[in-house]
This record gives sequence, C-alpha cells and structure tokens, in this order.
Amino acid sequence: MIHLGVNIDHCATVRQARYRDAGATVGGAVEPDPVAFAVAAERAGADGITVHLREDRRHIQERDVWRLRESIATRLNLEMACTPEMTAFALKLKPEFVCVVPEGRQEVTTEGGLDVVGNLARVGPCVEALAAAGIKVSLFIDPDEPQIAMSASVGATFVELHTGAYAHAYFTPHRAKEFQRLRLGCAQARDVGLTVNAGHGINYVNIAEIRTLPHLYELNIGHSIVSRALFTGVDEAVREMKARMKG
Ligand code: PXP
Repeated sequence: MIHLGVNIDHCATVRQARYRDAGATVGGAVEPDPVAFAVAAERAGADGITVHLREDRRHIQERDVWRLRESIATRLNLEMACTPEMTAFALKLKPEFVCVVPEGRQEVTTEGGLDVVGNLARVGPCVEALAAAGIKVSLFIDPDEPQIAMSASVGATFVELHTGAYAHAYFTPHRAKEFQRLRLGCAQARDVGLTVNAGHGINYVNIAEIRTLPHLYELNIGHSIVSRALFTGVDEAVREMKARMKG
C-alpha cells in the first residue's frame, strides 16, 4: 500500500497571509494552526507529515517544526534546502526523514528538481552528515536517469520524483510522455536500490493514474488536500485521498 505524507505548508500560508509575525505568536486569534491540521490529518490516516522550512520562511516557521516534532505520532519529513544552516537545523531536530529540495536558481534542473549532478560538492556532504545521524535522506529530483544514478551514488535512501511536469501536462497531449518518464524513473530508481517517493501537483483527479506507477513507497501531497479541507474538513479530505490512492 502506498503511504500518504500530508504536506501542511499551505495551512501555514493562510496563517501567514494575516499574521506575518506568527513565528513569535501562536494561540488565541492566530489561525489556522498547521500543527492542529497535522494532528487531524494523522487521525484521518496520514502516514506522515511533511513541511518545507524555507529559507525565506514564507509559510512554515521554525517554531511550527519544533511543535510538530513534539506533537505528531507518525513521521516527520522535513523538506529543506541544501545549506549548512539547514543541515545544522535538521541535525538538531532529528526528523525521521529529510527531503532535500532546491531553493536557489542554480540548484534547479530545467523541470524543477534538485540538480544533484551539478551540485555534487554540496549535496554529497549534506546527505552524508544527515545519514550519519540516522536520518533517512530523500532527494527531490526529476525522473531523469543521470539524477537518479547520482542520487544513489551520494548515499540517499529515497528519491522523491517530481510529478510537477506531469501534473502540469495533465490536460495536454504531453501527459502520456510525462507519465512514461515517471514510470521509467520509478523503475530506474528501484534498480539502483533507491526507495521511490513522488510528489508535487498530485490531486484528486490525477491520483487515479499516479497510483499506478510502479514501486511507489510514499506520495507527498499538500495543496490539493489543504484546498479540499476548506470545504470538507481535514478528516474527509485526507480519507478521500487515501481511498483514491487505494483505487
Ligand atoms: N514534494 C515536494 C518536494 C514539495 O516541495 C512539495 C511542495 O511543493 C510537495 C511534494 C507537495 O506539492 P503539492 O503542494 O503540489 O501537493
């Protein structure tokens, strides 16, 4: 069964739209609380909670991450840039998983995944330091063979294949080609010993096809679940996605 990691960044986006100083203030009128969202998501069947602590702190704040660390009962997946500051933060936090994602333009491939091949000198030591501390490391990459092969070489446990190009092409003639790239990417990653996650742009419609990709361990889904929760509540939004993941 494919696991569901619920990305709660966009719950924090709504809070930050009104409370810019939410890093220092919680409780009272400061809402919505992403930690409460995470706990509700877990109760509805989420297998893990994912947050991206961005360097610009545009949504999730450091304090959210520490509160999550103490509050959630499943697994915390910290998405972070490949910088010495974020590596030091992760080593203090000790989440179960870290997913290294690009934030600077120079780290990004044409499709938007982390360019592991072009940033080996930075990605290698980051993966090594996190892995030495017992944190399982994932690299968020495009479904391209050189990136997959290099991710295995630097010692990552997982890759998270970027499904954004596929999601973007969903209603265009390019969808089949993008899906085939993902299929191949899943198989290649598995062949070199990586565990395969996927994420970005997955919704209640394209999940019907995404779920048929081979060797999937976990899908990280955020925007569509947070959006649906506005109408149905968190519980129903998560249960419905889990049900569609099963088919
Ligand atoms: N996976 C990664 C690495 C991400 O950075 C994000 C957020 O952009 C997601 C998954 C979730 O994407 P979405 O919010 O489109 O579901």
